[in-house]
Amino acid sequence: MAQISTDVVIVGSGPAGAAAALLLSTLGIPNMMITKYRWTANTPRAHITNQRAMEVFRDAGIEEQVLADATPHHLMGDTVFCTSIAGEEIGRILTWGTHPGRHGDYELASPCLPVDIPQTYLEPILVRNATERGTQTRFSTEYLSHVQDADGVDVLVRDRITGHEHTIRAKYLIGADGARSQVAEDLGLPMEGAMDIAGSMNITFRADLSPYVGNRPSVLYWVIQPGSNVGGIGAGLVRMVRPWNEWLIVWGYDISQPAPVVDEAAAVAIVRSLLGLPGIDVEITGTSLWGNNEMYATRLHDRRVFCAGDAVHRHPPSNGLGSNTSIQDSYNLAWKIAAVLRGQAGPSLLDTYTTERAPVARQIVLRANRSSREFVQFFEVLGLLDAKDEAEMAARIEERKANTPAGAAKRAALVTAMELKHYEFNAHGVELGQFYESAAIAGDGTRPVKTKDPELYYEPSTVPGSRLPHVWVGTTEQRLSTLDLAPMTRFTLFTGITGEPWAAAAGKVAQDLGVPLETVIIGPGRAVTDLYYDWARVREVAEDGAILVRPDKHIAWRSASLPADPEQMLHDALTAVLGR
Ligand code: FDA
Repeated sequence: MAQISTDVVIVGSGPAGAAAALLLSTLGIPNMMITKYRWTANTPRAHITNQRAMEVFRDAGIEEQVLADATPHHLMGDTVFCTSIAGEEIGRILTWGTHPGRHGDYELASPCLPVDIPQTYLEPILVRNATERGTQTRFSTEYLSHVQDADGVDVLVRDRITGHEHTIRAKYLIGADGARSQVAEDLGLPMEGAMDIAGSMNITFRADLSPYVGNRPSVLYWVIQPGSNVGGIGAGLVRMVRPWNEWLIVWGYDISQPAPVVDEAAAVAIVRSLLGLPGIDVEITGTSLWGNNEMYATRLHDRRVFCAGDAVHRHPPSNGLGSNTSIQDSYNLAWKIAAVLRGQAGPSLLDTYTTERAPVARQIVLRANRSSREFVQFFEVLGLLDAKDEAEMAARIEERKANTPAGAAKRAALVTAMELKHYEFNAHGVELGQFYESAAIAGDGTRPVKTKDPELYYEPSTVPGSRLPHVWVGTTEQRLSTLDLAPMTRFTLFTGITGEPWAAAAGKVAQDLGVPLETVIIGPGRAVTDLYYDWARVREVAEDGAILVRPDKHIAWRSASLPADPEQMLHDALTAVLGR
């Protein structure tokens, strides 16, 4: 059989792998995506899709397709804590930026709002678009091993239908093969933390719950019931898959004991108990067990082989960061591989994948696990941790209603416990505030100034390394985000009218270095104007200054004003960023 070859082999068609394939194909890089199973994810798993992931989809031109299959933002947020869906409510929190006091922060930060799209709906969109744009997608194909040399990687795979094994030759390999990544294992990536620290079970079912949830629409309903604190999440979870008749329950189990057998009868019993509706008809559509992890890699690649997604950050679903971060890993990596393959950047650019993304991997693994542990606060506050039996548990929950000092103390403690959950459900800074320091950022020695809690709040900045701030600019006919003006296919230089000499400088630098680079001049009478004068407020450089944006919309470099020789300055900056 003739040797199969391509530029990039991607192992896995989950959010990390399918996004990598889509982005590489969009950038015109030949790639092959192999995946072990005959189709994409068979359980809903990830669903909270944050603004940064939506921005990636917008850049890739698939935002409308995602929105068409997603539950919109306004139905995501009335998150409830209760003893069962039909039972007592302990409290609510408006989540994912739906609180009127936070909604503005989300609207101001991005052209996209968070949405809920289950992984079973998202993956087919990514895979279809990647394949349409050129990805060779091979299902039922299992990665077995790889060997890399100075020029490329030989990837040994097995066709799971025929059992036939063969090698694919590629210039680069991306292991996006999930939390049990064989590629990461083969690469010997250094890992911190532990796997399988708690057990969770998923039960998917159909039942019309609109009478119980229609007045408090949310994607998450947390149920505090006897036994529910076993396992990673700390409480039983009834999660909307489709409003309001398709659901997923996540329930903990003690991972130190043999795995529980969840047959139809056991699943129905758990569902009815969490719903608090003993007689309700439910159709169980699936069950599965999974382990909670607290593990991240401190190096994400070795020479020509990269790992992305859960392969390098493994954590519970708290904060909804897994799929989002996986997609963002690929967004960071795809343009770098494309630039190196095209000879526009030196190979050292690829080392910045680890430098930039490993701190993010660590941050999100620690954040998600902390949020998961903070659930214990609810049990503590309600006095459930040492309750001997179900009756005592119920009595202690009941105590919050009492006109007694103990009741008052419990109510006050609940306010504090609820407050803490903003770090899980409204952690806007964690979602949008990723900041890179690496050789692919020509920094000016400054760091973004934070005036608020950096986990809860995103604050725009143009300090090199920051994500390009979003504001609306445009024309009388069209409103565009600044992010729309910096597509992933090129570098973009932003300046104002008195900075017009930058445009000629950029043209020369682009030609000289053979790098796609366009200038956007924002101002009246130009292609786009600063409609609300917001750009002037956020750009942090003078009108004649300039901001150089990378294809992944992180700021590579900035100049406070127009220097005597803008061409030389820009040339030096871009050369440094590209490792040339
Ligand atoms: P993923 O595991 O999705 O995909 C791995 C791929 O590799 C698969 O296609 C598999 O077939 C393939 N593969 C594995 N081994 C292979 C081999 N040897 N050869 C070939 N192919 C191989 N995240 C989030 O952002 N928001 C959220 O709301 C949630 N919620 C959530 C709820 C629940 C219940 C769970 C369990 C998880 C979440 N997550 C989440 C996390 C999210 O599901 C997870 O982070 C992503 O699926 C990770 O994507 P990856 O592409 O890295 O791996």
